[in-house]
Amino acid sequence: MPTAKAWTSAVESMQPAASALRLTVEQASQQIMPRWIEIAKVADCPPGTALESVADDRIVALFNVGGEFFALDGICPHQGGPLGQGELSGCILTCPWHGWQFDVRSGQHQLNARYFQPRFPVRVEGGAVLVDLEQTNSP
Ligand code: FES
Repeated sequence: MPTAKAWTSAVESMQPAASALRLTVEQASQQIMPRWIEIAKVADCPPGTALESVADDRIVALFNVGGEFFALDGICPHQGGPLGQGELSGCILTCPWHGWQFDVRSGQHQLNARYFQPRFPVRVEGGAVLVDLEQTNSP
């Protein structure tokens, strides 16, 4: 049976490892936790419109489909066109450069089932539209 002194010594020797582990858990939770960033005011993107926004060094395309907001990665996978400057018809976005079309609700390309534009979770809070750039929704 260990003595009290040996037990104390053993516990003290584990403290640096426990501190390092706690730091790792905190870092991991920051990676997993949503990080909501405001990209626009609700009034900036009326129903039936799109806009382009830059948040955290990323270009985000925001769409308002009948009062519901959707956000996609704003760079077209074809040749980098600005999806947030495209034309929205219902839930279908047309890229302004060469006409690739995407369903903004799912990111699904309209002609090629292999292409999905990354989507971001969206929420509205206090008149602002926020996205979580840490969580890309892909099919
Ligand atoms: S860059 Fe979007 S269709 Fe070509």
